[in-house]
Amino acid sequence: FAFDTVIHGGTIVTATDTYKADIGIRDGRIAAVAESLAGGTKRIDATGRLVMPGGIEGHAHIAQESSTKIMTADDYYTGSVSAAFGGNSSFIPFAAQHRGQSLDDVVAIYDERAAPNSVIDYSYHLIVSDPSPEVLEEQLPRAFARGITSFKVFMTYDLLNLGDGGMLDVLTVAKTHGALTMVHAENNDMVKWMNKRLAAKGLTAPKYHAISRPELAEEEAINRAVTLAKLVDAPLFVVHVSTEAGAAIIRRETQAGVKLFAETCPQYLALTREDLDRPGMEGAKFMCSPPVRDAQTQEALWRHIQAGTFMSVSSDHAPYRYDETGKLFNGADVPYPKIANGMPGIAMRLPWLFSEGVVKGRISANQFVALTSTNAAKVFGMARKGSIAPGFDADIAIWDPNETRVVSLDDQHDNMDYTPFEGLTVTGWPRTVLNRGELVVEERELVATRGRGRFVARDTVDLTGRPGYRAPELDPARNFGADIAP
Ligand code: URP
Ligand code: ZN
Ligand code: ZN
Ligand code: ZN
Repeated sequence: FAFDTVIHGGTIVTATDTYKADIGIRDGRIAAVAESLAGGTKRIDATGRLVMPGGIEGHAHIAQESSTKIMTADDYYTGSVSAAFGGNSSFIPFAAQHRGQSLDDVVAIYDERAAPNSVIDYSYHLIVSDPSPEVLEEQLPRAFARGITSFKVFMTYDLLNLGDGGMLDVLTVAKTHGALTMVHAENNDMVKWMNKRLAAKGLTAPKYHAISRPELAEEEAINRAVTLAKLVDAPLFVVHVSTEAGAAIIRRETQAGVKLFAETCPQYLALTREDLDRPGMEGAKFMCSPPVRDAQTQEALWRHIQAGTFMSVSSDHAPYRYDETGKLFNGADVPYPKIANGMPGIAMRLPWLFSEGVVKGRISANQFVALTSTNAAKVFGMARKGSIAPGFDADIAIWDPNETRVVSLDDQHDNMDYTPFEGLTVTGWPRTVLNRGELVVEERELVATRGRGRFVARDTVDLTGRPGYRAPELDPARNFGADIAP
């Protein structure tokens, strides 16, 4: 056997196993995993290291304009470089439709942004804000056919939210094609009502952002989204769950077999609303939607991570700089509703979760791999990624589990001017990352060339273990024979 690369002496960690073995790589794929492998044009010594599947970032905003036309600070170069330093070998940012835009144009625009720039493999989730008949009948199916098999919709924001009827339409189209609807679940009218109350009292500092988006707004919207998905028995993925009540709905419904998945994010485990209470506008750095909550919620979300409620922990990297190009786009002294929402974190997702999760004994290293890579590969249809076994892409992150550092902006390698994780002590860092057998980061030095990453055409969603729900009114055996189910 001739190998291009052999990684030897390390401890392999997958979603199910931990063992010492060498990995032989040929033509970008894992060709052999064995106790001892000779040869290899290049040999990487992983003694004392953990060798894990490269992270798959399933939630990131890269080279994306918000609905109010604010561009993220990271493009596909800086965003992918930052992801790679954070232990990721592929990512799935959003390709966002503005109302009136055709999805074919959206995909073409993001191809231009990504293909010449990304240093790791990439795909997109569409964002659908305008489910017109052409979008539903032609453009979405065309996107699915070229391997863009998931899309996000919003229940909040005036310029994005679909309404319940629009939700049912997109869920139905997705179901018919085996695609996956992702949802940002917050009740738009509850948030607007809170904004009005706060504004009337002149309460416009960044910290009131956390008050304006109640936990109940998420709970109500998750319950409604899941209920809508159940009516048509369509798969649903609830993004960035931030509340105990929301997580409890996910748990109950997945245990009942509903085709449901969900993620949470490090910021909901690491930060609280007190972080928004800083002098001046400084709290803007910690504004995201849904907002960060409190210590009790953090503990509840950890319990749900431990219990398997969440499919993944994603970054929701939404990099808006703390300046007039980002957070303060509408001015340096504006009310919180005019401040860009979102925070960066694509480089910190894995190290932070490893440190707080694995090192502190909350989750096993195998759970860590499942939450950061393997489950995303399954649900988002990247069949050749997310594990270490012969036949898989050689997407591998080599970690020093003992390295301890205080987080600084320098570690992020993004285009941001702050990190919300600044000053935290983190143990366990990815040092070397390979994608399809090629070195992207080697001992924390970037070695990849711009644009080497490839688009990944994704399969349809894997619904193993989720039989679904059949509404009696859509079941011909119970609805006088009416054949109206999608
Ligand atoms: O506040 C956030 N998370 N901004 C990014 C967009 C989104 O809703 O995920
Ligand atoms: Zn060896
Ligand atoms: Zn969202
Ligand atoms: Zn997001």
